[in-house]
Amino acid sequence: MRLEVITDPAEISSWSLQQQRSGNSVGLVPTMGALHAGHLGLVERAGSEVDRVVVSIFVNPTQFGPNEDLDAYPRTMEEDLRMLEAQGIAAVVFAPRVEGIYPTPSNKTWVTVDDMGNYLCGASRPGHFKGVTTVVSRLLTMVQPDRAFFGLKDAQQFLILKRMAQEMGFRTAIVGVPTVREPDGLAMSSRNRYLTERERAEAGYLSSAVGAAKNMIEHSGERNAKRVIAAMEDVLGRAKLGKTDYVEIVGADDLQPVHHLNSGATVLAAVAYYFGKARLIDNSIIVVP
Ligand code: PAF
Repeated sequence: MRLEVITDPAEISSWSLQQQRSGNSVGLVPTMGALHAGHLGLVERAGSEVDRVVVSIFVNPTQFGPNEDLDAYPRTMEEDLRMLEAQGIAAVVFAPRVEGIYPTPSNKTWVTVDDMGNYLCGASRPGHFKGVTTVVSRLLTMVQPDRAFFGLKDAQQFLILKRMAQEMGFRTAIVGVPTVREPDGLAMSSRNRYLTERERAEAGYLSSAVGAAKNMIEHSGERNAKRVIAAMEDVLGRAKLGKTDYVEIVGADDLQPVHHLNSGATVLAAVAYYFGKARLIDNSIIVVP
């Protein structure tokens, strides 16, 4: 399929409407570019569920804090387009300009989801999820997709967006897609490219830590969240080159800490770790048996 690039929000809205009027369902894969195999996995999943796939590429300034890597965030549009062309699934790349998404210089209208964005990544990135929910709500309004696809590596983001779509009455189904991993378990991320060779060798401990939590809860019958967290910290502690941001077990419905792991509850075992300026995250969604 020939890949079309659209930058104008009005144009993507009418493209989408036209597709839906002709009987084609539309899927959206929102990204900030710097595409890797994880993104291509989202596109592939979208292609298996809808007739036309739109990939948005927009480095959203409002989800970066003042000391974060907005300026340094990799912008690789030519390479991204080449990858999507080669994959041959996406019909359109929607690449709006900043003024397309934020038409006034000091944006005053925000979408926020109470509490769910304050803990885990939200604790060390204040305002981050407010930026994410605001940009995604605008993308959903512009593209009006039938389905939108998000990686479960960012499980907190996925759970917040699912709640937002439900409570705001968006017609779009929010679909979570399993994390694509390197052979040693490291979750694919645009930020992996910041790692030195030695850091990269240690980065697999993040997935081992969440794997340990899953194993303890699902197979060893552990019900005490503190003991599971201690085991995750033990595994992550084998990495020597960086520092832990958080190691947590939270409820999947409210993203707040849980102490006892009740049978039937869905919890999120989550870690975040800094290697220099690269902050990596990983998690596992676990249904307590
Ligand atoms: O996960 C991301 O890449 C971003 O947070 C998203 C969903 C594209 C919003 O900018």
